[in-house]
Order: sequence, then C-alpha cells, then structure tokens
Amino acid sequence: MKLPNIKIIGTGGTIAGVADSKVKTVGYKSGQVSILDLLSEIPEASNVANITAEQFCQIGSEHMTEAIWLDLAKHINELLKSNEIDGIVITHGTDTLEETAYFLNLTIKSSKPVVLVGAMRPATALSADGPLNLFDAILVAAEPMSHCKGVLICFGNTIISAREGTKTSTHQTNTFQGRGFGCIGTIVSGIVRYNYNTTKKHTVESVFSIDDVDVLPTVEIAYQFAGSKECMVRAVAELGVDAVVIAGFGGGNFNKNLSEYVKSLSGKPVIVRSTRVASGAVVRNGDINDDEYGTIAGDDLSPQKARILVMLALLKTKDLGEIQNFFYEY
Ligand code: SIN
Repeated sequence: MKLPNIKIIGTGGTIAGVADSKVKTVGYKSGQVSILDLLSEIPEASNVANITAEQFCQIGSEHMTEAIWLDLAKHINELLKSNEIDGIVITHGTDTLEETAYFLNLTIKSSKPVVLVGAMRPATALSADGPLNLFDAILVAAEPMSHCKGVLICFGNTIISAREGTKTSTHQTNTFQGRGFGCIGTIVSGIVRYNYNTTKKHTVESVFSIDDVDVLPTVEIAYQFAGSKECMVRAVAELGVDAVVIAGFGGGNFNKNLSEYVKSLSGKPVIVRSTRVASGAVVRNGDINDDEYGTIAGDDLSPQKARILVMLALLKTKDLGEIQNFFYEY
C-alpha cells in the first residue's frame, strides 16, 4: 500500500525543549532540539507515512508573531498545492499553539489535514509526552478521514478542532481541551477515531485570504476585573488600534466605568465583547445592548481567538453587521 506523504514543520516549543535534568519540567530551554532529531525518536512513524521535515523556526511560542503566522500560512498554502504532499504536521509550543491553529484554520486553502502538536514536558524529561504526541499527530495527518475537518490539534491522545482547542493547565499533559465542546476524535493504540465535525466554516470555506497581506490590523485585548477602570481600553484606543477585544465578565459584560466610554467610541475602534470565562457564549444584545453600544458579540470564541477573527475580518470590511456575521459563521 502506498503511504501518504506527510511534511513535518518544526517551529520550536517545549516538545523541542532541553533541561539539565530528567526530572526538570520547568526552567528548561524550549526550542532547542531540531525537528530531525525529534523524528529520530519515533522511527515507527515511517510505517505510517513517507516523512519529510523542515525547521521553519525554532522559538518558544510566547515569541510567535503575526509576521510568522503570515509567512507560515503562505508557505503551507504553497506546500499543499503540490500533489506530492498529502498532509502537514506542525510542532509548536503550547503557549500560543491554539492561536496559530485558529489563524491557519481561517487562512489555509486546502482540505488536506493540517495538524498542530506540542508537548508539556521537554524532550529530555522522564516520560516526555512529545514523542507519542508527535507520532499520533502523524497518524492523524496520514488518516484519510482527517480531510475536510479544518486545522486540528493533536494532544494527549485526543483530536480537538482548532477553533475550540485551548490550553487549560500550566503543567498537565492533557492540557488541551475543547472549551466545553470536547474532542472531535481520539487516537487509541495507533487507531484514529472521529466522533463529530465542527459546524463552523474553515479552510476551503473561509473567505479570508492572506495571499497579498503583509501586515495584519492591530487588535489588543483588555481584561475586566472587579473595580477595573476604562484606562486600558482608552489607552489602546488613543494609540489608534483597529479593534479591542474585551475579556469581559460572564456573558461578555463590562462595568459602568467602561460602558460609557465604549458607547462614546461608536465602533471606532471596533469593540468585541468576549469573556474571561473558560467556556460558553457571549450573546448579542444580552445584558449589554450591542445595537446601542456599537459593539460586536464574540460568540463562543476565547478572547485570543476573537482577536484573530476580528483581525482577518477587518481585512475585508469595516461594517459592524458583517463583522458580527463572521463571528456567527467562523
Ligand atoms: C512554548 O509555548 O514554546 C513553551 C511552552 C510549551 O511548549 O509547553
């Protein structure tokens, strides 16, 4: 049987991390081991796919930038045009893995599998989780059922949609969870199983294109807390940002210190109401009347993913109604 051709793209992170002791799982250096050396730990992968690899960058993912996202998305779009490549696996630090995954979910123009994977323990740790996670990610990318599912996160034997996947623990190896939506599949002893598909648009259905884009709109996130003032939102609005995502209370609410200021902005910059709560939706015209305030309800995206969607939305339109619809669709 002909094996699929899977390209592995290394970007760094803890999966490529090195510590000075096997029992050290904090205080190590991430982004040290090359992608070829990581693959040499799992020779079994060559029974699953014909593997080629490249080191795209070698960073701790806290240093991920919009410029790298744009380069990565353009590069993957080029790779996936080739009949010689059937799927992609990206090794990535866990800190911003979910953001890169969602950015690619909206900008990759292919139904071939694109799978992000990382690890919570450095490559040098006792029971490092990287090798099995990477092997599972290759299985997922090589699996015909993984086509048309959007960008996927493979972690701790589970497959999570890029839109929902989020890091939930600073140290546990099952850190990626689906914000209340669960995992769309599992990998058990080398067998990939799918349970459901995301209903939201992605990849080939996405209207967002970054082919001719060099710089993304500027979008900041402001966090609400008991007694918070309007000063953070005011500061970034006066700096001229294109949009602000508010990580609000509960269903995307903010206190009276902020509400009058937000109303006075009349949508310039665009204000997206998201929530600091770990799951659940922000509903339009809920406790805050978005029609009156000129705000966008962030639906059930986390603040960091709402930021990505509004950046891409602003490349297409400034119309608040159209931006709101993107939040329902993506
Ligand atoms: C990083 O995101 O690069 C460091 C943390 C990790 O990969 O777990």
